[in-house]
Amino acid sequence: MRPTIAPFPLARPRRRRRTPALRAMVREHALTPSDLIWPIFVTEGEDREDEVASMPGVTRRTVDRAVAAAQEARDLGIPCLCVFPHVDPSLKSAACEEAWSPDSLSNRAFRAIKAAVPEVALMSDVALDPYNVAGHDGLVRDGRVLNDESVEALVRMAVSQAEAGADILGPSDMMDGRVGAIRAALEEGGHSDTAILAYSAKYASAFYGPFRDAVGASGALAGSTAGEGKQTYQMDPANTEEALRMIERDLSEGADMVMVKPGMPYLDIVRRVHEAFAVPTFAYQVSGEYAMIAAAAANGWLDRDEAVLESLIAFKRAGCDGVLSYFAPEAARALSR
Ligand code: PBG
Repeated sequence: MRPTIAPFPLARPRRRRRTPALRAMVREHALTPSDLIWPIFVTEGEDREDEVASMPGVTRRTVDRAVAAAQEARDLGIPCLCVFPHVDPSLKSAACEEAWSPDSLSNRAFRAIKAAVPEVALMSDVALDPYNVAGHDGLVRDGRVLNDESVEALVRMAVSQAEAGADILGPSDMMDGRVGAIRAALEEGGHSDTAILAYSAKYASAFYGPFRDAVGASGALAGSTAGEGKQTYQMDPANTEEALRMIERDLSEGADMVMVKPGMPYLDIVRRVHEAFAVPTFAYQVSGEYAMIAAAAANGWLDRDEAVLESLIAFKRAGCDGVLSYFAPEAARALSR
């Protein structure tokens, strides 16, 4: 017997997709410039930018150019800039003292940007890798990345960043106990208003490769005596439940906001975190994700604007409150067109 077929389908979802106005009415998520955090790289010198070879379109900027980037962010409605330093090799050491120098490159950038563009929030990176001859996020001894000694160094670094005017500290090092130790030192040092956005669920990822070129940490890491890479502190990409435990831990130690990193390959983690904790949740569309889209677009294989905006709305759909993205300024410009 043949099934009865209705003469027309009752549900025609295409009715709602027919015109731009109808599509706008039923759209569930929106991306705005205020969802974006713009990571920038700073370098020594004046009035100069050099391109990061593995991130075409992304530059290392001298501090004056970083100030100009902050003005651009403000004009585009991007609320926050995240600063990463390309540290001169002569300043790298095993003890990483330059990381907490009041006059470190990133601290000078914080001061200069704060003075010129106070309305833009400044986020720091708390990790030793740009300052470490071993290229690791923590101190290395006898081929091991030390935990508690690293936390002491990270605390010094964090306090120096707060003193230089960073509004939000971003511990990205994945040492145990660092969020609590940094929080306690901030309170003690009169920085109770300085916030912590913890890189809580940070995976040991191949997608950080171009970033390590940008900050000049790749060579050191490759030659490091703690040879197995960052897997002894960053998370195994095969794990989900562990990410939830890391978020819970960092919140209990005083994190104000949390992050999942990398971004697009880990949106399932973002969704779980958003549902389990309902705290401000960010994701980092990392350097390798930038490089993939930029390279495909440069070859004419993808439409850059469309691919960028689609990649960013995916973060909102997954439950992010905001996204760190090297595409931030061009995405903000595309949104205003
Ligand atoms: C350093 C740090 C890394 C990134 C942000 N902070 C690299 C790493 O952990 O090796 C990666 C960002 C990116 O790839 O864009 N602690």
